[in-house]
Amino acid sequence: MGRLYWPLIILGNLFPVKFARADTDYAQYVNVFTGTTGGGNMFPGVVAAPFAMVKLGPDVSSGTKDAYSGYLADGSFTGFSMMHESGTGGAPKYGVISQMPVVGNVDNPLADLSTGRAAADEGFVGYYKASLASGVTVELAATEHAGLYEYSFPEGNSSIVIDVSHVLPSYRGSGWSQGYSNGSFAIFEDHFQGSGTYNNGWNLAPDWTIYFCGTFDTDPVSAKTFTGTGTTLDSYDSEFGVWTSGSYRQGGVFTFNETSVKSRVGISFISYRKACQNVHNEISGDTSLQTLVDSATSKWNREILGKITTSSTNTTDLELLYTNLYGMNLIPSNRTGENPDWDSDEPYYDDIFTFWDLFRCSTALTHIIQPVAYEEQIRSIIDVWRHEGYLPDARSSNFNGRTQGGSNADNVLADAYVKGVRGSIDWQDGYSAMVKDAEEVPENNDDPTSPDSSDKEGRGALPDWLKYGYITPTYNRAVSRAVEYSVNDFALYQVAKGLGEKADASKYLKRSRNWRNHWNPNATSQGHSGFVVPRLASGSFVEQDPLSCGGCYWGDAYYQGLPWEYSMNAHHDVDTLIKYVGGNDSFVDRLDLMFQPGLVNTGGGTIFNAANEPSFTTPYLYNFVGRQDLAVNRSRTVAKTYYNTGPSGIPGNSDAGAMQTWILWNMIGLYPLTGQTTFLIGSPWFSDMEIDLGTGRTLNITSSGGNSDDAYYVQSLKVNGKRWDKAWVTWDDVFADGGSLEFELGEDPVLWATGPAPPSPGSESQ
Ligand SMILES: *[C@@H]1O[C@H](CO)[C@@H](O)[C@H](O)[C@H]1NC(C)=O
Ligand SMILES: *[C@@H]1O[C@H](CO)[C@@H](O)[C@H](O)[C@H]1NC(C)=O
Ligand SMILES: *[C@@H]1O[C@H](CO)[C@@H](O)[C@H](O)[C@H]1NC(C)=O
Ligand SMILES: *[C@@H]1O[C@H](CO)[C@@H](O)[C@H](O)[C@H]1NC(C)=O
Ligand SMILES: *[C@@H]1O[C@H](CO)[C@@H](O)[C@H](O)[C@H]1NC(C)=O
Ligand SMILES: *[C@@H]1O[C@H](CO)[C@@H](O)[C@H](O)[C@H]1NC(C)=O
Ligand SMILES: *[C@@H]1O[C@H](CO)[C@@H](O)[C@H](O)[C@H]1NC(C)=O
Ligand SMILES: *[C@@H]1O[C@H](CO)[C@@H](O)[C@H](O)[C@H]1NC(C)=O
Ligand SMILES: *[C@@H]1O[C@H](CO)[C@@H](O)[C@H](O)[C@H]1NC(C)=O
Repeated sequence: MGRLYWPLIILGNLFPVKFARADTDYAQYVNVFTGTTGGGNMFPGVVAAPFAMVKLGPDVSSGTKDAYSGYLADGSFTGFSMMHESGTGGAPKYGVISQMPVVGNVDNPLADLSTGRAAADEGFVGYYKASLASGVTVELAATEHAGLYEYSFPEGNSSIVIDVSHVLPSYRGSGWSQGYSNGSFAIFEDHFQGSGTYNNGWNLAPDWTIYFCGTFDTDPVSAKTFTGTGTTLDSYDSEFGVWTSGSYRQGGVFTFNETSVKSRVGISFISYRKACQNVHNEISGDTSLQTLVDSATSKWNREILGKITTSSTNTTDLELLYTNLYGMNLIPSNRTGENPDWDSDEPYYDDIFTFWDLFRCSTALTHIIQPVAYEEQIRSIIDVWRHEGYLPDARSSNFNGRTQGGSNADNVLADAYVKGVRGSIDWQDGYSAMVKDAEEVPENNDDPTSPDSSDKEGRGALPDWLKYGYITPTYNRAVSRAVEYSVNDFALYQVAKGLGEKADASKYLKRSRNWRNHWNPNATSQGHSGFVVPRLASGSFVEQDPLSCGGCYWGDAYYQGLPWEYSMNAHHDVDTLIKYVGGNDSFVDRLDLMFQPGLVNTGGGTIFNAANEPSFTTPYLYNFVGRQDLAVNRSRTVAKTYYNTGPSGIPGNSDAGAMQTWILWNMIGLYPLTGQTTFLIGSPWFSDMEIDLGTGRTLNITSSGGNSDDAYYVQSLKVNGKRWDKAWVTWDDVFADGGSLEFELGEDPVLWATGPAPPSPGSESQ
């Protein structure tokens, strides 16, 4: 064994770390723990820039409860790893390339080395700290492709274990647990490197590989590789430059005489070499934790948080604004330059989790505050189609899946198209990708959870859709898929029309009305008749209680939403819906019932479910029938009831930031109708708000006349200085070139929106 060389870095006065705050530091209002409990599944660890590939944080195990982002408020630390998702469900993904600090020498690195907490974890934008029951303190900072670990051990001769086989486990027993396939590991004179190959998780992904390369700032007194199976060691020795590789567990144990040790690690999907380059380029040996934290803070301030500003000094409101802005921009991950599967000049993003969650209001806000990333994301999904054949509805570890309903990337593309997003997007290709979704049945991926058809990508139930114009119970989730396929076909109509594809436009407009084929005018509930229900090949309807969706999951007729909710989900064809339900008053009554407690056991006892996306638009539908006041009443109630800045401050699973985006729109006072240029009007929270739209454009939103918890009903509105009597604006009105919305707010509801109703572009009358 030769003398190891670990470049020793002299760091000045590192502890205690001080984090100065300036007045314009919006990051100070971000609580990274918001949404980490109560099922929110948010990732509180370090994400050094919006959409950064590295998400460095703790992996906590309770032994029973899935830790979707790695974090749980209770349980034991099993490691601190480089990759995570944020705010997802299904089953945990990633938690790979971990380090676990252990006090003293390690006899068996394959044994359970987990340890509890000595104190609650601490964290803010760019920084994370965990105090372990073992007496070790771990502090973390990162860049986009590398991470910095700083350990403080209670005594010398303590160890850091790198276990390549470490992943986030799943205890759900649904067959969606991640697997470790194989790996490699080696210790060299000045660094260690290796790779891990993993599979499965919620999207049933095949093997994928991540490479890593790291170093310590301190000479270890001993550095050993290990291999073994289960908890049985096969080898545990100190040979250098010798690779271990195979499907057994493996990694390294580094023991240090010092009590303060730092490690820098880079990861890459491309090669060991690129992993080493990533850490070399992004975290040089003399980079301090403070420098990385400052850099992360300024990136978040510049690229995201500073896009929405207000002169308000109400810290509760500021915390809600900036915490949710932060929370909606952790995933997808920008993996441009890190795509192992094909060579391309197009940007590459992964960790779309999922468009089913995001298309309703999130992608439309990304467009506004992150137009550059948004265009890159659109180009990236079109490139996935180019090289793999289908747009993703969800994607992680470089693999499409799962599709819960329709091919909802279509809606996202249409939204960008109708709002004039062009840039470097090849719209002929974009449209071809949408046509593929609409016309070609994807090969069945034989998922045991839903064996009827593909849930990897595309539209599995397309054969019925093309044959009958509706979806029979041959297919799971038939009714909710049919409603979503209608919305998807409307998206094709929008783009076909714009590209001058007249025949296609007319065909897809007709198909966008097929949700009507599931409408049984005789299905009754709560004094109302007419709901979307299952329908047989013979044409007859299946009896269905509109207040029940059975298991509401993969094998049921409605996915995660009641017939009541899906009956109100064809937002391109609202005029028809209003006719079907019996006119404006009946429509208002239906909406009222959806917010009346006690009708169901879910979602706080209302049909409207703040915690799931099929309900997102519901409060704003009042705008279609002249009752904007009620839209304000309902949406305010939801925002104030289900959101706060505490750890369980979002209504349920964040769904990759979808929940966060919902309240952001509520604070702005608008709500988008994806695939259309329409924004429905709510009521803004601040007396002034400026949204930086990029390239010198601004949207100013002001409100006078109170805007307190008592005075938020719209009394009157001016758009770009002109009196406004419509409960909606268009993209061109306020976003294309910027503009202003001047609200007068007051305590009492006023029927101010007497002008034309919002467009219903899928209806015959339009
Ligand atoms: C670590 O162990 C070595 C030899 O086992 C011993 O000489 C040294 O004093 C120990 N250092 C500390 C800080 O405990
Ligand atoms: C791991 O398995 C994959 C196949 O899934 C193979 O391509 C790769 O070479 C293996 N890696 C190692 C280090 O053995
Ligand atoms: C560990 O540190 C102690 C105290 O600083 C020193 O006496 C000892 O030589 C060191 N051991 C090794 C192996 O470096
Ligand atoms: C801050 O705003 C909230 C409403 O979001 C309100 O309840 C609270 O009273 C305000 N605080 C102050 C100090 O004005
Ligand atoms: C995405 O990553 C690439 C490569 O690092 C970078 O050039 C690009 O600017 C990133 N996009 C955004 C929106 O930051
Ligand atoms: C609804 O019920 C009426 C009266 O029973 C019946 O005539 C009609 O055919 C039914 N409609 C459908 C679509 O089942
Ligand atoms: C329904 O409400 C809309 C929006 O206020 C209005 O334009 C329309 O005339 C109303 N329809 C009827 C039949 O009153
Ligand atoms: C909504 O309106 C009802 C009366 O219909 C009222 O009791 C309630 O306080 C209002 N809620 C809000 C948040 O304005
Ligand atoms: C928005 O307000 C700022 C000042 O607060 C002003 O400079 C800008 O011209 C306004 N923009 C619009 C579009 O009204």
